[in-house]
Amino acid sequence: MPKRYTVTAALPYTNGPIHIGHLAGVYIPADIYSRYLRRQGKDVAFICGSDEHGVAIALKAKKEGKTPQQIIDQYDQVIRESFESFGIAFDHYSRTSRKIHHETAQEFFKILYDKGVFEEKISEQLFDPEVEQFLADRFVTGICPVCQYSSAYGDQCESCGSSLSATELIQPKSTLSGAEPILKKTKHWYLPLNQFEGFIKEWILEEHQNDWKPNVYGQVKSWVTNGLQPRAVTRDLDWGISVPVAGAEGKVLYVWFDAPIGYISSTKEWAKKKGLDWKPYWCDQDTQLVHFIGKDNIVFHCIIFPVMLKASEQYILPENVPANEFLNLEGQKISTSKNWAVWLHHYLKDFPDQQDVLRYVLTANGPETKDNDFTWEEFQARNNNELVAIFGNFINRVMVLSHKYYDGFVPKSGELLKEDLDVLERMAELPKKIGYSIENYRFREASQTLIGLARLGNKYLADAEPWKLIKKNPERVKTIMNTALQISSGLSILSEPILPFTAEKLKRMMNLDPETLSWDTIGAKKVLLEPQHLLGKTSLLFQQIDDSQMDAQREKLKKSALDNNFEKKDFSPLKPKTSHTNFDALDLRVAEIISAKKVKKTKKLMELTVRLGEEERTVVSGIAKDFEAEELIGKKVTLLANLKPRTLKGIDSQGMILLGENSNGNFVFVGPEDKTTVSGTSIK
Ligand code: 2FM
Ligand code: ZN
Repeated sequence: MPKRYTVTAALPYTNGPIHIGHLAGVYIPADIYSRYLRRQGKDVAFICGSDEHGVAIALKAKKEGKTPQQIIDQYDQVIRESFESFGIAFDHYSRTSRKIHHETAQEFFKILYDKGVFEEKISEQLFDPEVEQFLADRFVTGICPVCQYSSAYGDQCESCGSSLSATELIQPKSTLSGAEPILKKTKHWYLPLNQFEGFIKEWILEEHQNDWKPNVYGQVKSWVTNGLQPRAVTRDLDWGISVPVAGAEGKVLYVWFDAPIGYISSTKEWAKKKGLDWKPYWCDQDTQLVHFIGKDNIVFHCIIFPVMLKASEQYILPENVPANEFLNLEGQKISTSKNWAVWLHHYLKDFPDQQDVLRYVLTANGPETKDNDFTWEEFQARNNNELVAIFGNFINRVMVLSHKYYDGFVPKSGELLKEDLDVLERMAELPKKIGYSIENYRFREASQTLIGLARLGNKYLADAEPWKLIKKNPERVKTIMNTALQISSGLSILSEPILPFTAEKLKRMMNLDPETLSWDTIGAKKVLLEPQHLLGKTSLLFQQIDDSQMDAQREKLKKSALDNNFEKKDFSPLKPKTSHTNFDALDLRVAEIISAKKVKKTKKLMELTVRLGEEERTVVSGIAKDFEAEELIGKKVTLLANLKPRTLKGIDSQGMILLGENSNGNFVFVGPEDKTTVSGTSIK
């Protein structure tokens, strides 16, 4: 049994608010785990804070014409407030821009530096000659060599998803000045991960083969199999923590070097406030350190940070890193830049006092072993069919009947029959069962066991039918209601880690002192509610969610994604004004595509046969990358019909199909939306 627990949740970047993907992947599981441990009387430090350095923040500031400090202040506040209202009960939430963090990170660097751990290397990096600055990959854009998308970043093309290196871009441009970057030599400090391969193999691949999640273990294994390489832990950037050694002027620590140290500095800050010593939480072997993260952070928490900890020779290593997979939204990847997300601060506004609904849905459908999809339809179904119809309904029946029959006083139980003993027996097994699931990071399972108890209570009441017996056998009804009330109390205790707001409300309704009942009391089959205990007032635990609320959410999602794309697009300047005569000279027609095939040996060209009223003609269009031939048949498009024919790859093209671009830079037809439009008619 560990003496204490240090539980960390990935520090969110302060370049945007929190969305449901973050919650399902990291913060809800971490919160359930920490709440559960606290309920077991464990010594827990649940640590987090804002991750405020790095290129993404510098870039966001530049885009919005603000300073990085303004950006981090703005989002730190939004994030902090939304976590708090959502019941993510950190023991401490700090910021990496604080002095204590800068000092802790620099000290850490110095320890490794003094031990001679780092390698110093000079390499060539992209440099903006106009503003005289080295350029992080994200500060370079250009044409993607894979898909020709015009605004690919130096590290990735957002259109085709290829990962790139900045030097591969065609016509690269610095986003700082628009200048073409040049290559220039610069010195950096590298963490020689290759020297720690043996350590990682022994520590993770051998020791944690059975207790780490397969997705985490598998990623580590593949990194090690591919061979670990030295990683630069410094950067040429003007936003971050300066490198505390001579010869490093103008350089900062790589954000992934300083961020995990943020867990340590946040713990220090917390301990100071509480008058505790921070060291045991990070240095005592009797401490269980657990990092909750999303899968994109695995390498940093399972390889790089552990190597830093190991190399420092003074810190413990994580006992587990239960990383989750990703959550999609309505069938698409959640994307901050495309504004395809359900933002926590918006949810809290749209669904006030319904934190537990989202907590429940995201837990029950958590992406624990594979990517999962969040839909508003499922959200509504889980609320209405599980929380309202099972949990809420059971509690409501118990409370209403207890007030009706006994004026809210708990009746004394008579002799327990087999059916009473059975349900009480089953409830007594649950603290252990739910605890086991939570301790093994199986939160979905825990949530289903919990709802199972409410289901059991519902069935017990439905079978016992106290409302039918009350006239004939009031003594038996007292036993039934007493038993049902014990189950309700059990629910108020066991639901706390997953549904903290519900647990509190339920305890109030039952007039229970939150501190007097523990998970052990249930497990030991002790009476949770004494006869004559006076219950509190009844109210509904959950509310129905109707279709119109869900429609509104789906609408909001679509609209915000559209608005965002509109704002993001770089539009080419308008051409000079032209006359009506010039416009009249163009013959625009509705054309129907009747056949399509890709032009051989080309990537982009498609040969189309289109119908214009009676006439059929051939048109070659550069749309083969964006459409399959089969999906084109029957489409009505706009054709510039009197353009002089042109020969493309040996095919005479008689006209031009008008095209627009969507937010991904893909072609879309600009044309007659109404299916009844007749081909051949003029477009005026
Ligand atoms: O991926 C992210 O959002 C990072 N800000 C996580 C940092 S976790 C830790 F190392 F600080
Ligand atoms: Zn691309």
